[in-house]
Amino acid sequence: MKTHLITGGCGFVGRNMVNRLYKNTNDKIIFIDNLLVGKHPDTWIGLEKGRHADGFATYDNERLLFIEDDARNAIRALRENENYFASEFSFHCARIADVFHFAAIVGGRAMIDGDPMAVALDLAIDAELFYWACNYKPERLLYPSSSAAYPIDLQTESNTLQLKESDINFKRMGEPDMTYGWSKLTGEFLAKIAAQYYGLKVTCIRPFSGYGEDQDLTYPIPAIAARAARKEDPFEVWGTGYQGRDFVHIDDVIDCILLAMDHIHDGTAINIGMGKLTTFREIIAIFCKLAGYTPEIKALIDKPVGVHSRYCDMTFVEKTLGWKAKISIEEGMSRVYHAALAKLT
Ligand SMILES: NC(=O)c1ccc[n+]([C@@H]2O[C@H](COP(=O)([O-])OP(=O)(O)OC[C@H]3O[C@@H](n4cnc5c(N)ncnc54)[C@H](O)[C@@H]3O)[C@@H](O)[C@H]2O)c1
Repeated sequence: MKTHLITGGCGFVGRNMVNRLYKNTNDKIIFIDNLLVGKHPDTWIGLEKGRHADGFATYDNERLLFIEDDARNAIRALRENENYFASEFSFHCARIADVFHFAAIVGGRAMIDGDPMAVALDLAIDAELFYWACNYKPERLLYPSSSAAYPIDLQTESNTLQLKESDINFKRMGEPDMTYGWSKLTGEFLAKIAAQYYGLKVTCIRPFSGYGEDQDLTYPIPAIAARAARKEDPFEVWGTGYQGRDFVHIDDVIDCILLAMDHIHDGTAINIGMGKLTTFREIIAIFCKLAGYTPEIKALIDKPVGVHSRYCDMTFVEKTLGWKAKISIEEGMSRVYHAALAKLT
């Protein structure tokens, strides 16, 4: 039985990874989150709670340990004391095998444009994590970069490219998307250094627009679904609505991460997307069709929208991993719509 560590384990991707590892393995799972935006596991884990006190909880007969803390504190404590989980929480487990580092300040477009210096704190979180990992040497480390790392001049209305992994080149850098993209580029650079200089097995991913039924309402897909379920009319859209993204369901994202970790260990970053550009107006049309009405679309042109179009080329992933996303936009959006509808009733 192995032990895995998930930082940011109460956020959107983290929760889905905790659930997946719980279902698909018999391993122990330790997850850390400061609940800045993450949800307490009591609200989503659906397992029997064991020992708990302020700042920690165990679930399912000591199979899972949740620590409510800044990941940097826990990582520093672990750096000082390899037996930190046993000595501080009486949680007995094997040495950490896989690390999934999802702790980050993300916050969607409003945060990325609205408080870029808060997002820059991701540089500190990532640096601490890599510094610890290069010394501790877990078996494998997953670093989530982002499509925001790609140069923004490849994502304009007049110059929209299907972004390939090779469009990020550390010898000829383009400008990424705000401090968020910059921190992800730095993380990718650290990942390469960790692999080359410290022999760490690191996998980097660049998810495009991940979405799912349990995503926070600050993200567009669940927010649009909730408004369609309420039959909003006129239907507000940020910007003109003709800006597009590559939406990929979280179940596909998790599938691809786990496969990539088995095959890529040198810090090479891969895209995770459908390879398909869908505009926000098209998303609204899908949800409104599911809701059975045709609203007037009202463009809110003063809202932050980010780059015009961002989508990926999945050729490299298809060739190296033989992987393709399975959940179509129609099926994924239908799942999100029905989850939004269920919350209304
Ligand atoms: N969701 C996507 O589609 C997507 C796309 C590209 C990249 N990513 C990357 O994947 C990772 C996870 O994204 P997400 O969508 O789950 O975001 P999220 O905001 O839902 O989750 C991040 C979690 O980290 C926690 N957190 C923040 N600072 C922390 C700290 N100092 N210590 C401990 N916990 C902390 C938050 O409370 C939150 O629960 C991020 O690095 C993000 O950049 C996600």
